[in-house]
Amino acid sequence: MIVAGNWKMFDGPDPRALRAALGDLPHVVAPPYTRLRECVEAGLTTYAQNVHWENEGAFTGEISAPMLQSLGVTGAIVGHSERRLYFGETDLGVARRAHAALGAGLAVIACVGETWEQRESGDTETVLRVQVESVRDLCGTHDNLVIAYEPVWAIGTGKTATPDLAQDAHAFIKSLLDLPVLYGGSVKPDNAAELLAQPDVDGALVGGASLDIDSFVAICRAGS
Ligand code: 13P
Repeated sequence: MIVAGNWKMFDGPDPRALRAALGDLPHVVAPPYTRLRECVEAGLTTYAQNVHWENEGAFTGEISAPMLQSLGVTGAIVGHSERRLYFGETDLGVARRAHAALGAGLAVIACVGETWEQRESGDTETVLRVQVESVRDLCGTHDNLVIAYEPVWAIGTGKTATPDLAQDAHAFIKSLLDLPVLYGGSVKPDNAAELLAQPDVDGALVGGASLDIDSFVAICRAGS
């Protein structure tokens, strides 16, 4: 069971205070790049929010796996819907990021998920299939790879997927690629236990609630 906090473009909580509050609870934090070193030094399991497929080169605004590893970062999120939506990231680009990061020895959380319009028009499985298969075709199953199912309509909206809906989507994803699947989208302390109790929900990717130490610790505890 993995509970990961994606701080997005927020400064987030004090890493040392968070580390102290977490005690022995398993966790991952993905702070903005400027706080990676501080999180590593505080002893947190620290992932980046993205990673490029090349080790170096003329790729303004990007960061590579070896650069992250030089800071002590142990993993990366790829393919978050905000990257896909606002920054034009494609299925192939996401798969290349995942593949390179795994090859370099980073753990990877690869995100997939449908929009509300896609769900309403009955396209959820098609969308998930295309997204998951592009990761599968390049990476296969890998010990360091997990998928995060984040329905776009549930992100930052307070509209959490019902446990049954999450379970169905996770089972479908696993039928395509047999890997652990985290759920993301308005996970809060009061809904975490029920979501995490679903047989195919193997953890959570938490946005807003990971910015508050008490909330994040409560969700990590629900997952432990
Ligand atoms: P919220 O928990 O704020 O809905 O964000 C989910 C998310 O996007 C995590 O990556």
